Amino acid sequence: MLNNLYKEFAAYYATITNDRDFKGQIKCILDTYDAESPCNTLLELFAGQSVHSIEAMRQGTDSWAVDSSTEMKELAIANGFNNAGQYVVGNLPEAILDFAAAPKFDCVLGLFNGICNLTTEGLFDLLMSP
Ligand SMILES: C[S@@+](CC[C@H](N)C(=O)[O-])C[C@H]1O[C@@H](n2cnc3c(N)ncnc32)[C@H](O)[C@@H]1O
Repeated sequence: MLNNLYKEFAAYYATITNDRDFKGQIKCILDTYDAESPCNTLLELFAGQSVHSIEAMRQGTDSWAVDSSTEMKELAIANGFNNAGQYVVGNLPEAILDFAAAPKFDCVLGLFNGICNLTTEGLFDLLMSP
């Protein structure tokens, strides 16, 4: 079931949740990688306004995103997600198949109440996708 909060009210959602320390959170994640094998590519699931991907892009990571909301994608593009072709609008778990031709990702994120939108079966399908 799609939630109107992330469509009709996407801008409100972003406004009330954009006070987090995204820069610090992404730095914390990227710092877990060794200098010899850094995180070069990242996929953000349930990306929403994709604040984490945008911050990762700023820190030099090739970032991709997926979310079911066109309105969220529009916010992401307006706020600095600088490659529209790398933000897929689609429903997970099925939409993960759209990334079959994408690079293998060094990091896959599902932050802040994203994965809980799936059923247990949906999560299994997502994790077991080729
Ligand atoms: C709580 S928001 C999290 C957004 C962002 N990760 C953040 O940190 O603010 C959940 C997001 O999941 C998306 N979503 C919900 N169900 C989805 C599904 N089945 N497939 C893809 N995206 C979905 C919504 O559109 C929404 O942007």
